[in-house]
Amino acid sequence: MTIRSTARVAAAAALALSLAAGVMPARAADERAVNLKVLPKDISGNDLHEVMNGWSQALGVRCDFCHEMKTPGDFRSIDWPSDKIGHKEVARRMYTMMTGLNATTLPKAAGEPDAAVSCVTCHRGLPSPTTLDRVLVDLTREKGADAAVGKYKELRERYYGSGTFDFTPRSLQSVALTLADDKATLDAALVIAKLNVEQNPTAASAQVVVAQVLELKQDKVGALAAVEAALKLDPKDRHAQRLKQQLTQ
Ligand code: HEC
Ligand code: HEC
Repeated sequence: MTIRSTARVAAAAALALSLAAGVMPARAADERAVNLKVLPKDISGNDLHEVMNGWSQALGVRCDFCHEMKTPGDFRSIDWPSDKIGHKEVARRMYTMMTGLNATTLPKAAGEPDAAVSCVTCHRGLPSPTTLDRVLVDLTREKGADAAVGKYKELRERYYGSGTFDFTPRSLQSVALTLADDKATLDAALVIAKLNVEQNPTAASAQVVVAQVLELKQDKVGALAAVEAALKLDPKDRHAQRLKQQLTQ
């Protein structure tokens, strides 16, 4: 590889990296902001850089989520002051909501003068804050359990370890039990409960949920087998002990 092509590749890689990380390119940082309605008008280029970077990371998006890109895919074509993208106005309202909360409401409620939220407190890397159980319950009701299983795996692949979603057995437990409340989604509940066991093979609690769902499906034998599996993993699991008592009465 020639020196020049290496440099070009390095520059492209640096740009790709800055886009991925939401780092503000030097061009934008040098320019004077002309359309600030909520941030201080005299904010320095560096501080604006930091704020924009923080917002991008908090929402897990790139700059063009809020800023109009004139030529698709061309980062240099972004018109920074433009208000064409609706998300930008939402971001302004979010900022105003947040500074209002932090100024009085939150410190008062918490009894802590410096209690505060930031974008990431709620967003945790998502443009629309939500929880794993909510995503999966909604998707199951809309498209069935198989779609939810696929979604779970996709999200786990992408977000595991990031703190965006709770991948402990508790999430799928909550999904399965919510679905089990409704006869129409009892079969779906079992699919999700089994997914929980598959994904968390050492969690006694996951087996207990399978047992609970099978009991609701009048499958006592199956339920008892799941309870035994739970007790094998954790002989002291209270929930499993209680369920075993119930099932063997
Ligand atoms: C979640 C939405 C959002 C994201 C993501 C975002 N911005 Fe912004 N940006 C805004 C809003 C809103 C304003 C205007 C703030 C105001 O009105 O005070 C702004 C203003 C700016 C300005 C000033 C424009 C002007 O002249 O008025 C620049 C430059 C800028 N952003 C750069 C960036 C860069 C670079 C990124 C990516 C690292 C980025 N922004 C990501 C919402 C966003
Ligand atoms: C108190 C919690 C909270 C805080 C703090 C917060 N947001 Fe939000 N934000 C939400 C919720 C909830 C939604 C709406 C999710 C939905 O669509 O159901 C949302 C939606 C948005 C959207 C619209 C996303 C879309 O896909 O339509 C943007 C943009 C946004 N927030 C930006 C921000 C920015 C920037 C900050 C920090 C300045 C921030 N938010 C702080 C809770 C919060």
